[in-house]
Amino acid sequence: MPAKSQPVTRHVVSINDLSKREIEAIFEIAQAYLDELGDPKYHYRIGQSTDIGSRHILASLFYEPSTRTRLSFETAMLRMGGEIITSDDPAVSSAKKGESLADTIRVIANYADIIVIRHPKDGAARLAAEYSPIPIINGGDGSHEHPTQTLCDLFTLKKKNKRLENMKIAISGDLKGSRTIHSFVYALARFGAIIEPMPAAGMELPHHVDRRLREEFQSKLVSQRTPGSDDGSIDALYVTSDKPHQQSLFAAGEVDEVDYGFFIQKKVDAVYVTRFQKERWSEDQQQPYLKIDAKFMKDAKYSDASVMHPLPRVGELDIDLDNDRRAVYFQQAAYGVPIRMALITMLLGLKKNKSLQTFPDGFAKPEHPIYRQPIGMGLRCVNENCISRDPSEQHYAANKFYIVRGATPDTGRLRCLYCETDIEEETAKNFVVADTTKHHYVRGLEPALHASDDRLRHLIIYESEADAERDGYHARAMGRVARAAN
Ligand code: NCD
Repeated sequence: MPAKSQPVTRHVVSINDLSKREIEAIFEIAQAYLDELGDPKYHYRIGQSTDIGSRHILASLFYEPSTRTRLSFETAMLRMGGEIITSDDPAVSSAKKGESLADTIRVIANYADIIVIRHPKDGAARLAAEYSPIPIINGGDGSHEHPTQTLCDLFTLKKKNKRLENMKIAISGDLKGSRTIHSFVYALARFGAIIEPMPAAGMELPHHVDRRLREEFQSKLVSQRTPGSDDGSIDALYVTSDKPHQQSLFAAGEVDEVDYGFFIQKKVDAVYVTRFQKERWSEDQQQPYLKIDAKFMKDAKYSDASVMHPLPRVGELDIDLDNDRRAVYFQQAAYGVPIRMALITMLLGLKKNKSLQTFPDGFAKPEHPIYRQPIGMGLRCVNENCISRDPSEQHYAANKFYIVRGATPDTGRLRCLYCETDIEEETAKNFVVADTTKHHYVRGLEPALHASDDRLRHLIIYESEADAERDGYHARAMGRVARAAN
């Protein structure tokens, strides 16, 4: 345990790095900034500056295009009286010369007090955090997460609806490639929302995200339906079961027994629209894409629904809605300034008000054991866009996986620590586990799934017997396999 005088450096890589209490604390500080520095003509706009952040420097390190995220972070720091240094074009930074992200971070951490990073690879912000002695904020990493966008989204919803708990939110578009969506649905589920996914064809939420919603955040998934597909199925819903009235519905047994019509007909609090993330797909993968327009919004269940979008929009959100009283997307972007001021305030431990100065706790994630693999040996993350598979990071991003245990000793799966993609049991069925003390291996993941931390240090998981044998391990003789698992 670190001494009290040396607080742990906090990073915000995933929205799940923040407890619900911390999210609320960020909103209280953001509101305090709006009250103090708001533009009298526009209630959502910060129009004045202060000096609370003077003598602090924010580094913005953007390896991908950005308008709102980078500029609102920089504005936030400037409005607080701080300074900024920025690298927004990898073509003119050392990345072009082949410098690893790990090295870049270790250099920049000596130039600034806080870093916001955007990167095309999933998990890049987690790798940056591993190498950074100062706070790292994820400004979007591949299609993994974009937690500060979610803070803006939730704050917008809270301002509009005066609450965060138990909302009903429809999400439309590219639910697979949109990092904003992934952070958003985790947060919504944790705040007890009913989530209605409306994906474009083939762009459903990734399997591992949908499973986490159900298994870790107690959302119940029915199905995901592409609007207009007219296959007779009901709308898709995630329903969290942490509300008593919902729990009683589920207590009846299988999810099929729930009267879904009850939810579908209920008024929706917001329709959240996302663009097709063309940079995450190949050209031939573009599909017909739902357009949200005045006609769509005519449905009675959307009569009071906010229309939200992280922006940029590229045709999927009709500009005719701009003057609709339900459109909140420009306010959503404006809130990027007070929200990011509040986040910087918390991460730097600045004293905005008496009660809330630093992050008190952190989201109580289930404590998954971590399997750390020797560099250059064993298995790789299955996600080809994971930072751990980037050749320039191969000496820095040692493969690490959470062991997500199942209900029985022989079940469980591995989840990449960087991009949080799960290795499916089907993929893992040929894996073998080698024991470095005995120089043999056994088939299947079982010896690793329930090993103690100490025991885990002596195990290497391989994708195949051939890989284990290449590193000098041999199969444990049959009959002794069962004992090897203990
Ligand atoms: C989003 C992003 O970069 O993921 N933009 C943003 O930060 N507001 C959404 C998008 O690009 O579609």
